[in-house]
Amino acid sequence: MGILFFFYSFVCLLLIVSESFSSSSVMMHHVCSPTEAFALLHFKQSFQISGQPRCWYETDMQYVRYVDIPKTKSWNESRDCCSWDGVTCDMLTGHVIGLDLSCSLLNGTIHPNSTLFQLHHLRTLNLAYNEFYSSSMLHNIGGLRNLRHLNLSDSFFEGEIPTEISYLSNLVSLEFYCYGCELDERTFETILQNFTNLEVLSLYGVNISSPIPVNISSSLRYVDLGHTNLRGVLTESFFLLPGLERLYLRANDLLKGVLPKIHPSNTLLELDISFTGISGELPDSIGTFSSLNFLNMFSCQLSGHIPDSVGNLTQIRYLDFSKNHFTGHIPSTISKLKQLTYLGLSSNSFTGEIPDIFSNLQELSYLYLRNNGFIGSFPSTIVSLTQLQRLDLSYNSLNGTIPSSVLSLPLLSSLSLQHNKFSGLANEFKTNPTLEYLDLSHNQLSLKVLLLSSCELKDFPHLTNVKKLLVLDISNNKIRGQIPNWFSGIRWDSLWYLNLSHNSLTGHLQQFHFHNLEYLDLQFNFLQGPIPSSICNMNNLQVLHLSHNNFSNSIPSCLGSMSNLTVLDLRRNNFTGSLPPLCAKSTSLSTIVLNDNHFEGTLPVSLLNCSGLEVLDMRNNAINDTFPAWLGTLQQLQVLILKSNVFHGPISTCQSTFCFPKLRIFDLSRNEFSGSLPAKIFGNFKAMIKLDGEDTGEIKYMKPSLRSMNPSYEDSVSLVIKGQDIELERISTIMTTIDLSSNHFEGVIPKTLKDLSSLWLLNLSHNNLIGHIPMELGQLNTLEALDLSWNRLTGKIPQELTRLTFLEKLNLSQNVLVGPIPHGPQFNTFENDSYGGNLDLCGPPLSKQCGTSDLSHVPQPLESEDESYFFSGFTWESVVIGYSCGLVVGTVVWSFMFKYRRPEWFVEFFEGIYPKKMRRSMKRAQRQRT
Ligand SMILES: *[C@@H]1O[C@H](CO)[C@@H](O)[C@H](O)[C@H]1NC(C)=O
Ligand SMILES: *[C@@H]1O[C@H](CO)[C@@H](O)[C@H](O)[C@H]1NC(C)=O
Ligand SMILES: *[C@@H]1O[C@H](CO)[C@@H](O)[C@H](O)[C@H]1NC(C)=O
Ligand SMILES: *[C@@H]1O[C@H](CO)[C@@H](O)[C@H](O)[C@H]1NC(C)=O
Ligand SMILES: *[C@@H]1O[C@H](CO)[C@@H](O)[C@H](O)[C@H]1NC(C)=O
Ligand SMILES: *[C@@H]1O[C@H](CO)[C@@H](O)[C@H](O)[C@H]1NC(C)=O
Repeated sequence: MGILFFFYSFVCLLLIVSESFSSSSVMMHHVCSPTEAFALLHFKQSFQISGQPRCWYETDMQYVRYVDIPKTKSWNESRDCCSWDGVTCDMLTGHVIGLDLSCSLLNGTIHPNSTLFQLHHLRTLNLAYNEFYSSSMLHNIGGLRNLRHLNLSDSFFEGEIPTEISYLSNLVSLEFYCYGCELDERTFETILQNFTNLEVLSLYGVNISSPIPVNISSSLRYVDLGHTNLRGVLTESFFLLPGLERLYLRANDLLKGVLPKIHPSNTLLELDISFTGISGELPDSIGTFSSLNFLNMFSCQLSGHIPDSVGNLTQIRYLDFSKNHFTGHIPSTISKLKQLTYLGLSSNSFTGEIPDIFSNLQELSYLYLRNNGFIGSFPSTIVSLTQLQRLDLSYNSLNGTIPSSVLSLPLLSSLSLQHNKFSGLANEFKTNPTLEYLDLSHNQLSLKVLLLSSCELKDFPHLTNVKKLLVLDISNNKIRGQIPNWFSGIRWDSLWYLNLSHNSLTGHLQQFHFHNLEYLDLQFNFLQGPIPSSICNMNNLQVLHLSHNNFSNSIPSCLGSMSNLTVLDLRRNNFTGSLPPLCAKSTSLSTIVLNDNHFEGTLPVSLLNCSGLEVLDMRNNAINDTFPAWLGTLQQLQVLILKSNVFHGPISTCQSTFCFPKLRIFDLSRNEFSGSLPAKIFGNFKAMIKLDGEDTGEIKYMKPSLRSMNPSYEDSVSLVIKGQDIELERISTIMTTIDLSSNHFEGVIPKTLKDLSSLWLLNLSHNNLIGHIPMELGQLNTLEALDLSWNRLTGKIPQELTRLTFLEKLNLSQNVLVGPIPHGPQFNTFENDSYGGNLDLCGPPLSKQCGTSDLSHVPQPLESEDESYFFSGFTWESVVIGYSCGLVVGTVVWSFMFKYRRPEWFVEFFEGIYPKKMRRSMKRAQRQRT
């Protein structure tokens, strides 16, 4: 309050200053009287400018700005003293009438002989927030009879406030926020009674040790007598003042008496009698404080019922009755206090049910009902308080279940429900990211679900009594070290969902005792060593997600026989050896993601049994095999990625009628494949001809169908998209790509590719393809990137390619193409590097003109051997991963990004990457949300 008020008076002073300047702008020049200038300079010299900065304020919730200014630094004889910082003159007489040296970093002592006291014309003196250690009180202050405003707050004055201050009877404001000073009773009385103009009185912290006088100057608007050792009985005196707006009497425990009857004409806005000895019942007339917005009665001796008339305080924003002896029910009229942001009723003896009064209190941020005798159920309207930040219902006798929605209140940061009789949590709940404190101890809960994701936990929580737990999620914390032995030792009979992902767990996995586990997620840790073979005892396991760890050795071969296993995600570890016989005894695997390991040998033929297989990602291993045409019989297979292995030989076609009918992502790049591109195999890719969901306009994502749906796994892969390696968090069902780049394919480009009418990306670069670019490729009307670079293609670029109206990236460089470059809508956007290193192409964008045979302008081959020179210098993978690391859960990029504000660069960056169709629907979704 002191600081706040200081700023109020600071503003007042500014007004005075500007007024005196504006009224006298005509007559400037040396108006300062030399004696006063001398007095000021002398005063200045008695200090050092070495005090600690004392003045700050919060510009908004976080930023603190210092406003200490060493005003006396600018004082010197060469300038008129009226222009010195902090000095105000009367422009008619030239006298110094205002001196504001608040927050001026002054350090020193004001002696009784100080020249300050020669400034007899001063009307305003503000020395607040400096360091005047061991300055005894300003005994000569009584000489400054003209003072209207005096502020000596918080500047380390010491000792008795001199009685001479009683001479300053013209004061309008007197501020003396100060510890360690004393004021005698007579002077206190004189100030309150004889200063007839006094509007602002702040003596916070001054030791007064007197009763409040009976008759009080009626001009008072603001009174702060907090912490002043007031004694005696609180009388009506303050409450009868016609214009009093703020009264702070807090922290005067010797102040007794009852709250007086309140007169209907009172004008109080704020009243603080907290930590006083005021007792008795609240008068019914409390409701007549109709303009009150702040009422603090914390820790008094009040008793009885809270009168219904409290509902008449309709302007109230802060109401605290905590720590008294109130009894009875909470009046339901509180529901009328729509402005309330703070309601404290803790530590009384209230009884009965908590009335359901909260649905109207939409501004409420703090609700404290702790430590009373409340019974009954959780007041259901609390869950409608969307502004609620802190809720404390602890130490009551509430029963029934805790509604799940309270935990997802968007701003809630602290929830205390301990020491009640709650018997359950609504079955499924998720804490929101703002929750920092949750105490449910000492209830009758039989905990079934414990979700502590993203809680900044540093240690593995020590859980007791958790044998009945069904769901445990402590992912996305900062837990270090090994999984503790007690955890591995428990027989977890009920647990079906365990998520320890995104922590910093180290060490080896112990034997498991999770007999009924269905979902195990340990991704993004530093776990190492082999997977224990006891993992195969978890008969019900459906999802095994161990990616992004340091696991090594070969994987236990029994893994191939786990009958319910649907998702096996072991990507980015150090596994070695050959693959186990996956689907040896079952058919349920639908997602196998083993990329970025050191697997070798051949693909196990048992995969033929995986009739539900949708995703097989073997990228970046050392598999040495021929093309698995036999996988073509898997009718559900949508994603086949064999990139960067040692596959070799020609691409054979399979024998069955429906071969790879659902394949949409087909990546054989960076292998040793050879032979021609068989026309027939492309004809089989039915899914690239007509797409699911193409007509509905709805974007779907691939996810395996798990029996127990709730904690879901979404398929994700890495792809080279338009020249960049991207880790896709989700696979949309409209992404269709063929990437056969960096092999040894030869022969011509088959015309049958034209049938793949939904193809989005096609990359045949870095092979030995010859012949012409088939003009039929112009029929691929959803194609957005076409890369045929680094082959030996000849002839002209077919004019038909200009029909590819979605084409955004084209790379035909490093071939033997000739003739004019076609013109067309998209073609006009491609630049030189789309065509570099060809024999004899001409026309824009190349500088070589058509119709001449001047070979001196043939573009030089590009320097980069890398296929990704479209965007060289920017590594997409690192950027995308870098962003998604901050996510709560790594699989929900889009929903996350729509929910929260997305960084601009991220939006722009992605908007060029996804298929146009998706971009449209993402934009639509975004528009709907804004
Ligand atoms: C204030 O001045 C005194 C005496 O010169 C000195 O000891 C003290 O350190 C100064 N305070 C600060 C904060 O510089
Ligand atoms: C003022 O009083 C102080 C302490 O009594 C003394 O040290 C100082 O010299 C005096 N200054 C003047 C200008 O007399
Ligand atoms: C204060 O006012 C009362 C009544 O007017 C008067 O008797 C008393 O002398 C005054 N006190 C001072 C210190 O001026
Ligand atoms: C104050 O509240 C009481 C009880 O709720 C009610 O009867 C009375 O009319 C109210 N008075 C005013 C002035 O609103
Ligand atoms: C909760 O407590 C109330 C009052 O003590 C009682 O009437 C009610 O039956 C209890 N409800 C439950 C679910 O225990
Ligand atoms: C797991 O598979 C076995 C055998 O196929 C089946 O009997 C069992 O019910 C499955 N477990 C669950 C939880 O469905």
